[in-house]
Amino acid sequence: MEKRYKLWDLPTRLFHWLLVLCVVAAVVTGQIGGNLIDWHARIGIVIVGLIGFRLVWGLCGSTYARFAQFMPSPARIKAYLSGAWQGAGHNPLGALSVLGLLGLLTAQLLTGLFANDDIAFTGPLYALIDKDLSDRLAGLHRLGANLLFVLVGLHVAAIAFYGHVKKHNLVKPMVTGWAEGEAESARGGGLAAFLLAVAVAVLLVWGASGDWLPAPPPAPPASAAPAW
Ligand code: HEM
Ligand code: HEM
Repeated sequence: MEKRYKLWDLPTRLFHWLLVLCVVAAVVTGQIGGNLIDWHARIGIVIVGLIGFRLVWGLCGSTYARFAQFMPSPARIKAYLSGAWQGAGHNPLGALSVLGLLGLLTAQLLTGLFANDDIAFTGPLYALIDKDLSDRLAGLHRLGANLLFVLVGLHVAAIAFYGHVKKHNLVKPMVTGWAEGEAESARGGGLAAFLLAVAVAVLLVWGASGDWLPAPPPAPPASAAPAW
C-alpha cells in the first residue's frame, strides 16, 4: 500500500473551504453593492473570525499548520528553486503566497471595517475616524480587492500547474487531510488549542461588529413633526 501521512488537520481544512466560500460571497456582494452591502459587511465579519482563528492556529495548531513550520526564509526559497528542498506542507514559494493571501485579507478587513460607500452604508467602526480617512480607506479597500483577484488567480493557477504539469495533487490533502509519501504525520493542535483559537476569533468578531461602541445620538423626537 502507498505510504501516506496526515498533512492538514480538520480545522485548517474547514478554515480553507469556509474562507473560499466567504471570500467569493464577499466579492460578489461587494461588486453588486446596493442592498447587498449589509450582507457584504456580515460576511466580512465572519471572515474576521476565520482569519483570527487561522492566525492563532498558526501558533498552536498541528505541525504543518504552524507558521514556524513553513516560514519562507531566502535560504529555503533558494533551496526550493534549485530543486533541493525536501519537506512536507506548504513549500517555501507556496508559503509566500499563503502569507500574502492572509496579509492581504487582513488588510482588506481592516480597511472595510472603517469604509463607507458614499451612499447609506458605513462600516461598523466608521464612527472611530473622520469621513476623509474613511474615504481613503474605502479607496484602499477597492485597490485591495483588485490585488486579491491577482493573488487568488496566481494561487489557483499554481495549484492547477502542480496538478496538471507536476502531477502532484495538492487539492486532495486539503479535502481529506492525508497526503501520499513519507513524512511524519502532523501532531498537536488539540482541543485546548482549538478552543483558544475559537475564543480569540469570537472576541475579534465582537470587536469588528462595533457593538461595543456607544449608541449614536437618538433621532430627533417625533413631536418635532407638524401636529396635523
Ligand atoms: C476579505 C473580505 C472582503 C473582501 C474580499 C471585500 C471585497 C469588496 C469588493 C470587491 C468591493 C467592491 C469594490 C468596488 O466597488 O470596486 C467592496 C466594497 C466595499 N466593502 Fe468590502 N470586502 C471585504 C470585507 C469588508 C468588510 C469586513 C467590510 C465592512 C464591514 C467591507 C465594507 C465595504 C464597503 C463599505 C464597500 C464599498 C466601498 C465603496 O463603495 O467605495 N468590506 N468590498
Ligand atoms: C477565494 C479563493 C481562495 C482563497 C482566499 C484561498 C486561500 C488559501 C490560503 C490562505 C491557504 C493557506 C492554507 C493554510 O495554511 O491555512 C490556501 C491553501 C490552499 N488552497 Fe486556497 N484559496 C482560495 C481558493 C482555492 C481553490 C479554488 C482551490 C482549489 C482548486 C484551493 C486550493 C488550495 C490548496 C490545495 C491549498 C494548499 C496548498 C499547499 O499544499 O501548499 N484554494 N488557500
